[in-house]
Amino acid sequence: GAPVKVDVSKIDPGFMVTVKWRSKPVWVLRRTEEQVKGLSNTNHITRLRDPDSIIEHQPEYARNSLRSIRDEILVVVGICTHLGCVPKYQPFGVQDDYHAMYFCPCHGSKFDLAGRVYKSVPAPSNLIIPPHRYVDENLLEIG
Ligand code: FES
Repeated sequence: GAPVKVDVSKIDPGFMVTVKWRSKPVWVLRRTEEQVKGLSNTNHITRLRDPDSIIEHQPEYARNSLRSIRDEILVVVGICTHLGCVPKYQPFGVQDDYHAMYFCPCHGSKFDLAGRVYKSVPAPSNLIIPPHRYVDENLLEIG
């Protein structure tokens, strides 16, 4: 399929858009400063199964703690790595967990705002980072 372009300047902090790439949903989230900070919090990292994405391969340019080219912009395939449901963006957390996350309604898997899977959920690995690049300051190209 053809690459998909997204103008990231149109996304407000804390919000995301979903685009279709190869008939899969791809999320583009503009993380707030606070959300970015929370991702490197040491207590948070102990809750993750694969914080450094050793199990789940990802592009070279996303091999960092935020799994992204730009600190604030997350680009990730929105398909649960358990059985393929579409998780929901929960900026205020779920149940007794007040951390912002992606929550899969099918069997309760949780992913952080870098798409990293929590421990003790059915999903085995982090969400997939699709190939992407910035064509100019604001124009993201996926695929
Ligand atoms: Fe997401 Fe099972 S498909 S938890």
